Formats: sequence, C-alpha cells, structure tokens
Amino acid sequence: MATSIVGLDIGSTGVRGVELSSNGKNKPTLVRSYEIPLPPGAVVRGEVVRPDVVGAALKRLWSQGGFKSKKVVLGTGNQGVIVRDLTVPKMSIKHIRESLPFQVQSTLQMQLTDSLLDFYPTSETIGEQGPVLNGLLVAAEKKEVLGNVSAVEKAGLTPVEVDLIPFALNRLLISRPQIMGTVALIDIGGTTTSIIISSDGVPWFVRIIPTGGDDLTQALIEGLEIDSAAAEELKRSLSLGAVEVEVDDENSVSVKCKCAKCVADEPYVDNSRSTEILNTVSGELLGSLRSTVNYFNNTRPQDPVQQILLTGGGSLLSGIAKALSEITHVPVLAADPLSMVALPRKKNAKKIHLDGSISVALGLALRSTL
Ligand SMILES: Nc1ncnc2c1ncn2[C@@H]1O[C@H](COP(=O)(O)OP(=O)(O)OP(=O)(O)O)[C@@H](O)[C@H]1O
Ligand SMILES: [Mg+2]
Repeated sequence: MATSIVGLDIGSTGVRGVELSSNGKNKPTLVRSYEIPLPPGAVVRGEVVRPDVVGAALKRLWSQGGFKSKKVVLGTGNQGVIVRDLTVPKMSIKHIRESLPFQVQSTLQMQLTDSLLDFYPTSETIGEQGPVLNGLLVAAEKKEVLGNVSAVEKAGLTPVEVDLIPFALNRLLISRPQIMGTVALIDIGGTTTSIIISSDGVPWFVRIIPTGGDDLTQALIEGLEIDSAAAEELKRSLSLGAVEVEVDDENSVSVKCKCAKCVADEPYVDNSRSTEILNTVSGELLGSLRSTVNYFNNTRPQDPVQQILLTGGGSLLSGIAKALSEITHVPVLAADPLSMVALPRKKNAKKIHLDGSISVALGLALRSTL
C-alpha cells in the first residue's frame, strides 16, 4: 500500500511542503506541493524566531495546499551546525549514534548537552584495531532544531525525522548514477547559503554560510532609501551581465560589470548606485563561494570540483552562474529537482506549484521514501 509523507522546508522567505507517495517499489510520486510566504524576521538564518507566525503559516500551508499526511520530515541547517570528518569502529548506525557523545566530547567545541549529534557514514576501511567506518559527524544546536519542531507541533503536525538541509539536497540532486565525479552543490537562499561537495554522490564536505539573496535586497533598501518591495523588484531586474572579476592578493573578489552601458560610461565602472551595490554584495558572496571551492580543492587535490550545481531562489539573480563559473573555472549549471520523482497524472497536476525553491522540501521527503 502507498504511504505518503511531507518534506517541509521552513525557509526565511516561506514555508514549503512537498508530499510524496511511495509504494516502496517504483519512483515515489510527487502528489502535491505548495508554498506560503513568510514576513521578514519570522525565520532568520535557519532559525524560527517567531513560532506563532510560522505555526499559522503552516496551518495555511496544509489547508490551502490540501496535504493529506500530517507526518513531516524537517530540515535543519544554519551556520551553528558543525560537520566534520569522523572515523569510528564499525558497528550498527544505532550503536554509533549512541556512542557519539563519548567519541567526540574532547574534540567538539560545543556544549554536548546543547547539541544533537548524528553520523553519516561514507566509506569502510580497515584500521589498526579492525574495520572502521569513515563518515561525517553532524552536530546541530538543540535550540534551533527544537524551535522548528515546536512551530510544526503548534500546527498539529508530527515531525518524524530531522535531516541536515545539505544532505537532503545531496540526496535529491547529486546521489544518482547520472551525476559522477566531484560536484559542488550550492543552495543560495534568502539568509543562508549551503554548500555540499560530493564525489560520485558521497558527501565529503559541508559548509553553511550566513548570507543569501536578502543581503542584496537589504543593501538596496539602505543604499537607495527605498522600501523592501521596490528593492526586491529592482533586484530581480538587475544583472551581473558580462563581469570582470578581480581577485586581489588577500583573496578578496571584486566584480565589475562590463555590459555595454557601463563600459560606455567609463571602463568597468557604472555610475548607477544600484549596480555598484549589486557588484559589492555579489562580490562578497562570490568570494566566499570561491574560497570554499579552493579550500576543498587544496585539501583533496586528487578530486577537485569538476562541476557546480546551483539551486535556491538567490541563484536566480541574473548573471550569478556565469560569474561563479568565471572565478572558479568550473562549469555551473542549474540543478534539476524533478528527476528523482514521478509526476502525477494530468488531472492532479494543478496541485503542484513548482514556483520557488522546492528542492529542499523534496529532498527531505525523499529521506523516508528511498
Ligand atoms: N528572480 C530572482 N532574481 C533574484 N533573486 C531572486 C529571484 N527570485 C527569488 N530571489 C531571491 O531568492 C531568495 C529566496 O530564496 P529561497 O526561496 O531559496 O530562500 P529561503 O529558502 O526562503 O531562505 P533560506 O534558505 O535562507 O532560509 C530571496 O532573497 C529572493 O529575493
Ligand atoms: Mg532555503
């Protein structure tokens, strides 16, 4: 019998649900998806700041989206999450989870009583004392995860699992036979950007940075003294165009527009204040992304990043993919979120809203159907 589950992404700009139905044999079917926007400040950098506002938005998500299941898989991920390599003696995943506090208490700079620990195995080798499992240790702040759980429970929903958002994206977008080699997946959200780098689908590296598309909106609001709706509209009309990217000795990246209009004014300089703000703020984000890819390539020179996949609303900024490709010298493509699921027959298709960023919610829902 088919069972259904909802992947729930509580993002800074909206709550999104994706309901998948699975009979355990075929590809799971995406039966419905929906999004309700959130006002600024309700969720900031992965943390629910206003559980009442989020709880009310979730109730609307269920009533307007028509979700049938109340079982949800939740995501977590802000810059407080620590992900690092860990090797443990080979045993069942249940035993590994139980032993994690003892394995990591001397190495983790975080109060163990305030954190939730998990382990994601990636390979098995033979150590000095016998077989060992190598993998990634995940330590998340309890406060953040419990804030999300409490908002969900306020809306009458039952959280059945919690997963790290970058792992959900990896499951959906990278760990499949068609995608080989070392791939960096970058999700640029409103207030957070997650980077996960995997080789042949196995994750090696995770980094979550507290910046996103909203930083540019905010800079336009402050720099041009306009309101947030006008800044959002202006941002969507801007383009990094043909860019000139410079990297100085201190590794900081500056991006300059080389479009015909800017070049005509003065070489590489645009007098328009909005383009200047666009170039500064995007330069900072692009600089962090470039350093992350370089850091990974330096630590694993045998497996350098061969491809970058972009997802998240912030990646829709015109010209950002091209600029990222220019500074990393790696092809940058938009990720395809729908190849892991079947779509319903036409008569149900109206229940599916594919606008916005459904990748996180879809990757979360897949955790319990694969
Ligand atoms: N066409 C577009 N051009 C530029 N930016 C866009 C466009 N569409 C959406 N954005 C930006 O994408 C960002 C929201 O992305 P997304 O929906 O992935 O974030 P979120 O999941 O709500 O936030 P977070 O992941 O940080 O919690 C906002 O900053 C929004 O302005
Ligand atoms: Mg997001």
